[in-house]
Amino acid sequence: MKGIILAGGAGSRLYPVSKIYSKQLTLIYDKPLIYYPLSILMLSNIREILIISNEETIPLYQKLFEDGSDYGIRIEYALQTAPNGIAESFIIGEKFIGSDSVTLILGDNIFYGNIDFIYRAMQKNDGATIFGYRVNDPERYGIVEFDGSGKAISIEEKPKQPRSNFAVPGLYVYDNEVVEISKNIKPSPRGELEITDVNNVYLQNGKLNVEKIGRGVAWLDTGTPESLLQASNFFGVIEDRQGLKVACIEEIAYYKGFIDKENFEKLISKIPNSLYKSYLEKVLKEN
Ligand code: G1P
Repeated sequence: MKGIILAGGAGSRLYPVSKIYSKQLTLIYDKPLIYYPLSILMLSNIREILIISNEETIPLYQKLFEDGSDYGIRIEYALQTAPNGIAESFIIGEKFIGSDSVTLILGDNIFYGNIDFIYRAMQKNDGATIFGYRVNDPERYGIVEFDGSGKAISIEEKPKQPRSNFAVPGLYVYDNEVVEISKNIKPSPRGELEITDVNNVYLQNGKLNVEKIGRGVAWLDTGTPESLLQASNFFGVIEDRQGLKVACIEEIAYYKGFIDKENFEKLISKIPNSLYKSYLEKVLKEN
């Protein structure tokens, strides 16, 4: 299973900072936003990851993660020249995906809680697996409708009159067909290759599994200044209370056995004196 993080987009709701800065590099409490989706892929045992972004931001991600080897993973980078839609990821990533299946996570999507359901979904995926998460503001998302037996019967992108409160989060698991399917869909009225159109092809082919995410899991939005502040507060409260970090990719790499103790020590030694470093030293001492 390969992993793709799409970290492009105009981020215009964050203007003026969006003029100079990528949303996925915004600080969520104590680390850049992109750490959160990256950690989800790592926790799901995905170790080959493609980060897709724009020309200005790719060098910044490269500076952050290099080739990923410090974390025992392999990270590649690819360019999306314009915000042409989420589904373009599979066309851009065709070579990287090769003959594998692929999980796509949007660079601004945060999940927190018991996320084992993601790994389980990857293991049993046959076609496509997407998720449904209850939200208060369904007009803003891809919305999935279920029939009485819990089977998905429609998916609509940002409907004016939503047929349900179940939004489709930016986390999608696909078999290799997704590459061909993405090549064959047409841009939507907003000029984008919509992920919802890809999911509808799977739905029509009887190959779409939609899993509802339970109420114990947090899926946080990061599209607006308010939601960014809320996410920062949320993780600030949890991290300060427990003395444990969320989405700390260095710790995850060690905990997952992607790197051994010696490499973990080496990684820590490269970090300048900071609370982040002290935390990792504590992890090393305690484990
Ligand atoms: C995109 C997808 C939408 C999905 C959402 C999740 O929306 O098009 O279906 O529910 O991500 O974050 P956008 O980021 O384009 O508003």
